[in-house]
Amino acid sequence: MKTEVAIIGGGPSGLLLSQLLNQAGVATVVLERATRDHVLSRIRAGVLEAGTVEMLREAGVGDRMAREGIPHEGCYLTDDDLMVHIDFKELTGSSVMVYGQTEVTADLYNAQDALGATIIHGVEEVVIHDADTDAPYVEYSLDGARKRLDCTYVAGCDGFHGVSRKTIPEAKRREFERVYPFGWLGILSRTKPAHEELIYANSSNGFALASMRSETLSRYYVQVPLTDKVEDWSDERFWTTLKSCLPSEVAEKIETGPSIEKSIAPLRSFVSEPLRWGRLFLVGDAAHIVPPTGAKGLNLAVSDVHYLYQALIDALKKGDTTGIDAYSERALLRIWKAMRFSWQMTTMLHQFDGEDSFAAQMRKATLRHLSQSETARRDLAENYIGLPF
Ligand code: FAD
Ligand code: PHB
Repeated sequence: MKTEVAIIGGGPSGLLLSQLLNQAGVATVVLERATRDHVLSRIRAGVLEAGTVEMLREAGVGDRMAREGIPHEGCYLTDDDLMVHIDFKELTGSSVMVYGQTEVTADLYNAQDALGATIIHGVEEVVIHDADTDAPYVEYSLDGARKRLDCTYVAGCDGFHGVSRKTIPEAKRREFERVYPFGWLGILSRTKPAHEELIYANSSNGFALASMRSETLSRYYVQVPLTDKVEDWSDERFWTTLKSCLPSEVAEKIETGPSIEKSIAPLRSFVSEPLRWGRLFLVGDAAHIVPPTGAKGLNLAVSDVHYLYQALIDALKKGDTTGIDAYSERALLRIWKAMRFSWQMTTMLHQFDGEDSFAAQMRKATLRHLSQSETARRDLAENYIGLPF
């Protein structure tokens, strides 16, 4: 088989890139390890920056998001009972959209089907060959048979555990990493959200986040030690812990119910530089991971796609390689700013194992300062709603 852009990974970044390229008449083949149902069952991101919303509209998948997404013009950061309101609209003139990654992915699959795009599920043992030459190709196994896909470019959209990043020789890349000593235990429940806006809570009992997917579907997280297992957490224990982290006026009114999904995600900051090796480009989680505290992961994947898709079209249709030559540097500038913000939000809101009493005071002082300084709130809001592409 032959195509122009071989895309490894059919998560949000691979599907969005494929959709934008197909719309411009560029041929793609998406190779995805999992089944479509599996990809669509992963509950992950929930908050879309305005720039992400715009990109999804451009890709022709804005209609259901416009109907079912919930625009959020602010959020709360809390410290025990202190509630600090961050008014995005007033501080920046912009807002974010609460619309689940699962929905974004489902919309992209439907749009790809409508365009007749090629997405191959269930591929195994993907190997990228000759990415540093003019004739790269990808080999993979499907139903027991070995297949070959020749292409002009390869987009590595296969997430943190994929093969694309590791295809770049170690001597040609540099990795930066911070692993946090805790994870997030998340649940989804058919209950009314705790508040109309998201609440990021620092407390003497640790971090919690009250989020949502709709008016009847809530998404909550609490900070847990990395050694904890999902089985250690009954619904009852989860609700008790969550309530102990939220301000009492919110905790008192919270509606509880059975969880319909429960999972633990470790927290990590990671960047692999550069994002290009010959004709291979890394996109999204394949190149970088942020802790979810700033809601930046999916949004960064989308901004990478923003920088790459037009560059690939220019290279393939006009022979103009200035865009692909600049891709890594342009994308990394924005990636590092989101890294900084996600790290800062994580540090400001979580208890670190073995920390001294000074650390807790620093968190309190930062949150007090936010409550009193419009300048500090504006800085946070500007980063949260998304820095310009
Ligand atoms: P992925 O979603 O990881 O997709 C990669 C795809 O590649 C997968 O489908 C995988 O099956 C496939 N694949 C892997 N290896 C191979 C292979 N060898 N061959 C073929 N296919 C392969 N981000 C936000 O912006 N806002 C949030 O609110 C937010 N909340 C989050 C909450 C949690 C609990 C978690 C875990 C993450 C959150 N994120 C959030 C991060 C966000 O989910 C990711 O950044 C996003 O999924 C990245 O998309 P991606 O397409 O680059 O990678
Ligand atoms: C979510 O709703 O899943 C969510 C929201 C905000 C975050 C992280 C996750 O920062």
